[in-house]
Amino acid sequence: MSQLLNSVFPTEDTIPDHFKILQPIDQREYLIDGELKTWAGNLNPVLSPVCIKDGKELKQKVIGNTPLLTSTESLQALDAAVKAYDLGHGLWPTMSVTQRIEHVEKFLEVMRRKRDEVVKLLMWEIGKTLKDSEKEFDRTADYIVETIKALKDLDRNSAKLIEDQGFMAQIRRVPLGVALCMGPYNYPLNETFTTLFPALIMGNTVVFKPAKYGVLLIRPLLEAFRDSFPAGVINIIYGRGRETVGALMETGKVDVFAFIGTNKGANDLKKLHPKPHRLKAILGLDAKNPGIVLPDADIDNAVSECVMGSLSFNGQRCTALKILLVHRDVVDIFIEKFNALTKKLKPGVPWEDDISLTALPEPGKVGYLRGLVDDACGHGARIVNENGGEALETFFYPAVLYPVNEKMKVYYEEQFGPVVPIVPFSDDEEVIRYVVSSNFGQQVSIFGTDSKRVARLMDAFVNQVGRINLNTQAQRGPDSFPFNGRKDSAEGTLSVSDALRVFSIRTLVATKNTDSNKQMISTIIRNRESAFLSTDYIF
Ligand code: G3H
Repeated sequence: MSQLLNSVFPTEDTIPDHFKILQPIDQREYLIDGELKTWAGNLNPVLSPVCIKDGKELKQKVIGNTPLLTSTESLQALDAAVKAYDLGHGLWPTMSVTQRIEHVEKFLEVMRRKRDEVVKLLMWEIGKTLKDSEKEFDRTADYIVETIKALKDLDRNSAKLIEDQGFMAQIRRVPLGVALCMGPYNYPLNETFTTLFPALIMGNTVVFKPAKYGVLLIRPLLEAFRDSFPAGVINIIYGRGRETVGALMETGKVDVFAFIGTNKGANDLKKLHPKPHRLKAILGLDAKNPGIVLPDADIDNAVSECVMGSLSFNGQRCTALKILLVHRDVVDIFIEKFNALTKKLKPGVPWEDDISLTALPEPGKVGYLRGLVDDACGHGARIVNENGGEALETFFYPAVLYPVNEKMKVYYEEQFGPVVPIVPFSDDEEVIRYVVSSNFGQQVSIFGTDSKRVARLMDAFVNQVGRINLNTQAQRGPDSFPFNGRKDSAEGTLSVSDALRVFSIRTLVATKNTDSNKQMISTIIRNRESAFLSTDYIF
């Protein structure tokens, strides 16, 4: 073991007291129909990616377990959501926007008090650094606040009647029905809540299944979910996806499917719905975002954006730069500077100061990355950075691969980890071909200063990907920007305001502009006879 890897795992006694998990967390609770039930069946052990040193031994720390529910319980959760929606006549879907906002605000208040607990579990469960875990928590709380603001705006804009071609109408957004929300392990709080809360606040009822890893961190919020919403509005289940979620899809009672994961996983589940035309899907899927470095780029900026873009959270971001296409004129200097900056990224445990590289939560991931590197080396690439590809248990030190070509798996596959493939190119047509022929279409980053050349590439990509970043890494934020993708990368667009739209549909009441119709409409409004047809304005 090299000196570098020697420090990536702690001994139990070096863990600061406030970050210690003294007893494994025995989670048996799940939430159905407003009741926290206790599971007496099989449990799924939760292993931290962080290994603990004990003499010469290194062992992944067992930090708890979660319920392995079966289809019986997941169907009970669905029944509760269906009952709470009650074909659109339930308390929640018919409640005023102001009241729904009050329920969400009640939740948010308790959620904020659980920050330390959730942050600690984020670190232990998925190995996210303290700083990034705090950022994930705060960004999520801010997202909920912004969602409330956006809903108020939306509601204000719908509070007026419109007139056109002899008709008058009021148009409002109403819920779609029962939503199934599933998030990813890399942002188990943020990405899950950025679909869950828009779904809830628009009046849908929800079955929520936490991600594969990053499950225990929802536990501190279970009571807040129970106490903040009417029974059945939010139901939280645990267990294996195929068994629990597959059964839900087969019923045909899921109206909205919000899923962040692989396109294969999304397809398998969507196909189980007996009436796919009734299922609205909001999907965030695979990506292989290229970073393109032109010969006239500001190399220092390109290097620092590409290092962060490909290696923050060990490359486990859907928006990460997953392949770098660098012009031959600058590829040597780019690699030299890239490696120098990568060397500054400190490996270690998530709660230590200034740590950037941490262990990986997915079982088998280190072996998978090793396989990608071996395959690339077998086809002519080399690991060009010091210590590249060194591994210890769940930790994999970033491997920078060069020169990468189309014979290698890493040229196409989304590595979702700390492997950085660098492809040299001579002609801009080569990078255009890469993007056009890719199965993925989330984002691309272009680094260059020649405006004509950048503009030409930009225009070549606008119908290929959802976002083109100029001289900056790919990313989702700010959350007011649309976040989407083409091809196998996404379905639907998310942003604070878009999410409210994707979880709802516009319904209108329209009538001909006659005196008698006008009179009836004004009576309904004046006497507050309808919840829908109303000019009430939220402040
Ligand atoms: O994993 C995908 C995330 O939505 C990426 O978000 O670009 O803010 O890291 P981020």
